[in-house]
Amino acid sequence: MRIKKELIAEYNGKKIYSFFLSNGKGLSAEILNYGGIIKRLIYKNTDICLGFDTFEDYLTNDDYFGAIIGRNANRIVNSEFNINGKKYKLTSNSGKDNHHGGINGFDKKIWEAELVEDEEASLILKTTSEDGEEGFPGNLTVKVTYTLTEDNGIKIHYEAESDADTVVNLTNHTYFNLNGHEKGDILNHSLFLYSDFYTPNGDNETTNGEILSVKGTVFDFNEESSFKNRILSSDKQIIASSGIDHNFILNGSGYRKVGFVKGDKSGIAMEIYTDRDGIQVYTANEILGNRVCKGNALYKRYSGVCFETQAFPGNLKFSHFPSSILKKGEKFNSVTSYKFI
Ligand code: BGC
Repeated sequence: MRIKKELIAEYNGKKIYSFFLSNGKGLSAEILNYGGIIKRLIYKNTDICLGFDTFEDYLTNDDYFGAIIGRNANRIVNSEFNINGKKYKLTSNSGKDNHHGGINGFDKKIWEAELVEDEEASLILKTTSEDGEEGFPGNLTVKVTYTLTEDNGIKIHYEAESDADTVVNLTNHTYFNLNGHEKGDILNHSLFLYSDFYTPNGDNETTNGEILSVKGTVFDFNEESSFKNRILSSDKQIIASSGIDHNFILNGSGYRKVGFVKGDKSGIAMEIYTDRDGIQVYTANEILGNRVCKGNALYKRYSGVCFETQAFPGNLKFSHFPSSILKKGEKFNSVTSYKFI
């Protein structure tokens, strides 16, 4: 048996479950139907994602540990955008900006869930988002399928459809620490990214419309580098964000390998595959270390790193960025996988 579920709480009249999946080859996961949160990801007996112990802890998950993010990953400047000449005003939850879907984003939804054991073990999560929710137009139906693959990957398949033109840009906010979630910082992890360009940040970690070459900058990961080399630099962009919190433009198109990361102590490595155009590399700059987390771990700045595959932030404002608008009747269909070695 590679799947099972366990009732862990009742919340707002709904049952909250932990779903356990295993690929029978050393990779297993615990995922909640609350926020689609990946709570544990265990490879070679090492739990490689940050999280909390109890469901109640996740009710104040301000760092978005493990969660599905929607309708829109990242920030929408001034919480507003236009579609078909009409202006939409969103809720604001990061200064004047809308961040990770708003006040009650998909990370706080209780998803319908179904475990499936075929050749591979999967968890299918479904939810809806009503027209006007957090200010977004259109009734949206969403399906996210997590699969533990035979080749030791966790594959995330995102699907969505709307009855009106809207914004859809879904991602997952898992913080990885390949040495083990409780083993300190990721500064000596190394990263390789197939990315020749990035979008620098303006105010409040939002993009300013520029596309810059990474060549000769701390953002060039075309040669494998430790995070430490880049984060402890005097680069203005790094100083302004207290680390990396930037959108990298991924080379190529279609589903492809876009990078890999290595833990220095465990020897565990992770390959990243996606069909998206961009990835937010976020080195947990805002984790402040004053909260007891999973297994009594005290996380702090740089305890983990997120690889949030996404549309370029600011695309609703800057028309030279590929758009995240999903047209009525069209399907958002995207896959991102993290594969462990
Ligand atoms: C954002 C950061 C933010 C973090 C936690 C990341 O996806 O890029 O700016 O601090 O999420 O909210």
